[in-house]
Amino acid sequence: MILVTGGCGFIGSRFVLDWLATHEEPLVNLDALTYAARPQALATLRGDPRHTFVHGDIRDRALLDSLLARHRPRAIVHLAAETHVDRAIADASAFAQSNTLGTLTLLQAAQAHLQARPASEAAAFRFLHCSTDEVFGSLGPDDAPCDELAPYRPRNPYAASKAAADHFVAAFHVTHGLPTLVTRGSNTYGPGQHREKLVALAISRILAGDPVPLYGDGLAVRDWLHVGDHVAALVAALERGTPGQTYNVAGHQGLTNLELIGHLVTAIEVETRDREARGTSGNGRPLAPAATGRHVMRWIRFVADRPGHDRRYAMDDRKLRSETGWAPRIALDAGLRETVRAALDTPGAYDGADAR
Ligand SMILES: NC(=O)c1ccc[n+]([C@@H]2O[C@H](COP(=O)([O-])OP(=O)(O)OC[C@H]3O[C@@H](n4cnc5c(N)ncnc54)[C@H](O)[C@@H]3O)[C@@H](O)[C@H]2O)c1
Repeated sequence: MILVTGGCGFIGSRFVLDWLATHEEPLVNLDALTYAARPQALATLRGDPRHTFVHGDIRDRALLDSLLARHRPRAIVHLAAETHVDRAIADASAFAQSNTLGTLTLLQAAQAHLQARPASEAAAFRFLHCSTDEVFGSLGPDDAPCDELAPYRPRNPYAASKAAADHFVAAFHVTHGLPTLVTRGSNTYGPGQHREKLVALAISRILAGDPVPLYGDGLAVRDWLHVGDHVAALVAALERGTPGQTYNVAGHQGLTNLELIGHLVTAIEVETRDREARGTSGNGRPLAPAATGRHVMRWIRFVADRPGHDRRYAMDDRKLRSETGWAPRIALDAGLRETVRAALDTPGAYDGADAR
């Protein structure tokens, strides 16, 4: 079996669902259920003996030791983290705690566990750490995409906490021989994301008839990766990656935030028209106010830029493609349309306050 951390989060819950849809192998899902957790995403797994949920913190060494001893997983897929940059700017403490200290605690527990196991079991073990393109810092418009050897230049406290964790993972591979894998994913979007993240925030605002707050001039560039493609990359790295290696995971859909909102307005427009034509709104929810015929700027409200806002992220992911055969499959417009559809079909999808 495998141990997944953060399996109730946005990417983690999709990982758990996709894994159990394609593997008989059970998993233990360790999650602290912070504000960001969405355990309801796993409702379809109720009663499924392959899914064991454990409510707990990755910093709890005694809990980790007992889980590893009891379940003897062949791999750890480590997704648990604090993930929202704005929260890290307001107070980075939880990020240092969960992302850096939590990862270190998990590495120590894994290493101690493997020391007591036969050499063949220890060699076959995998510790997959899910990192981010943010560790590379900000690129200029003409800079080449970062490959796996690009220097670390984290510029916000979230990125710093993830970069520190990456260094510990690398150190445990070199020093202790732990069979680690690191993936660095780009900006991930899809159904069920927390409303503090841009795509979810924008959909909830536009559906409510309100403009989307965009930082600065709206020209920061992000590379958008569908959550299903991100999860497929994690599985590919786990199954076919080489221990000790790091793999970039790009979406190949680099857009300014303004351009992204343009695509999103179109997705909402198309979906709304389609539902009007079919006379359905999905689950009795009122139809979204049509964005139809309005210029995209109608849906934008510029707000003061985020401090230390990175201008552009871009990664070269040829290593993951050539070594594992992975490639992103979901085009941005199709992925956004699916995300809009899920928002309309899930009452309360984006309930709760957003900070911007
Ligand atoms: N979302 C993205 O765009 C993106 C891109 C690249 C990499 N990543 C990485 O992917 C991973 C998952 O991201 P996400 O967007 O799904 O995050 P998320 O914020 O949606 O979910 C994080 C999950 O981790 C859990 N968690 C937090 N701290 C914990 C702790 N100390 N112990 C146990 N559980 C804890 C939370 O309860 C939550 O369920 C993170 O490591 C993140 O850095 C995310």
